[in-house]
Amino acid sequence: TTTELIDGFGRRIEYLRMSVTDRCDFRCVYCMSEDVKFLPRDQVLSLEELATIGQAFSELGVKKIRLTGGEPLVRHDIISLAEKLAALPGLDELTMTTNGSQLERYAEPLQRAGIKRLNISLDSLNPLRFAALTRREKLDQVLRGIRVAADAGFERIKLNTVVIKGRNDDEVIDLVDFARELNIDISFIEEMPLGVVSTHNRQESLCTSDDVLKRIQTRHGLVASAEKTAGPSRYYRMQDSDIRVGFISPHSHNFCDSCNRIRLTVEGQLLLCLGRDNSVDLRAVVRRYPGDAERLKQTIIDAMQCKPKEHTFYQEDQPQVVRFMNMTGG
Ligand code: GTP
Ligand code: 5AD
Ligand code: SF4
Repeated sequence: TTTELIDGFGRRIEYLRMSVTDRCDFRCVYCMSEDVKFLPRDQVLSLEELATIGQAFSELGVKKIRLTGGEPLVRHDIISLAEKLAALPGLDELTMTTNGSQLERYAEPLQRAGIKRLNISLDSLNPLRFAALTRREKLDQVLRGIRVAADAGFERIKLNTVVIKGRNDDEVIDLVDFARELNIDISFIEEMPLGVVSTHNRQESLCTSDDVLKRIQTRHGLVASAEKTAGPSRYYRMQDSDIRVGFISPHSHNFCDSCNRIRLTVEGQLLLCLGRDNSVDLRAVVRRYPGDAERLKQTIIDAMQCKPKEHTFYQEDQPQVVRFMNMTGG
């Protein structure tokens, strides 16, 4: 019999989101503060430690690993890690979420290394707004990267847009049209309150998926589709295009009931829910007992009992998460 990871609520865990760095060449307002201090190197898992932990998860029945950050492509030698993970026999797919700034150079090597699908963040097509949201002036570079990636032979590419009222909510139709032009998917995300931001009031500027859907419906007919990836998107289709339009709605359509995933933070903490602080220290295990795969796997199996039922964003009687997304693994 193969081992499986089942949590205390009977959910099967088959998807690991692995943050490979807290660093990034952007400073997106919803993700980190402008004066962020990055971690010293010795607190971050080495590539060898990441590979060891990835292997343990695949032996425990994890079928999908997504590399995230920070920005995964600023991590030195990320391609060699991708090659190692892609070669794990138990894994169905290795994917990555990136800000796109380095894709001109990296798209083809990533595809050759075995990355099947790529999710690329894109919040605006307007250079000034893009700069206001990411605090960097790199829209052209990202658009060039997206175009190179679209031709690089990936099975599927998806754009991710965090929609914020007054900042980019009037651009959703333009973004859908851009995705249609390139024949790639796009998902719209409700912002989650991780860390404390000073740039906007998150609860007031929350743009719900239903609002976004309504805006798109004024231009394109959208029909709900039963398709699922292992991720949280609910997908819609259009009559005159092959692309999927997805909605990730942690607030308005909570998807915790069917949660199949856990995260590995850049410090080697196994984080059992994005919206809670429950975690188990895997770095301590791989550093104290190097080579002891059985102990590592048992620690992971035991950790499943610490997975909470659901996030508690904006619940006043619950502690809110002070950790920013870049530390967490977007
Ligand atoms: P695929 O379905 O594999 O394409 O990917 P995905 O949608 O799971 O991953 P992606 O990296 O594109 O994540 C998009 C957004 O969904 C990010 O903002 C993630 O933080 C968010 N997200 C992913 N998993 C969870 C989760 O378990 N809980 C919550 N609240 N948000 C999540
Ligand atoms: N809420 C929702 N999505 C976020 N992302 C980063 N921070 C947040 C947040 N606070 C998204 C990025 C990227 C993915 C990794 O997570 O836009 O697409
Ligand atoms: Fe960087 Fe992604 Fe965070 Fe933006 S959301 S600052 S691109 S890690």
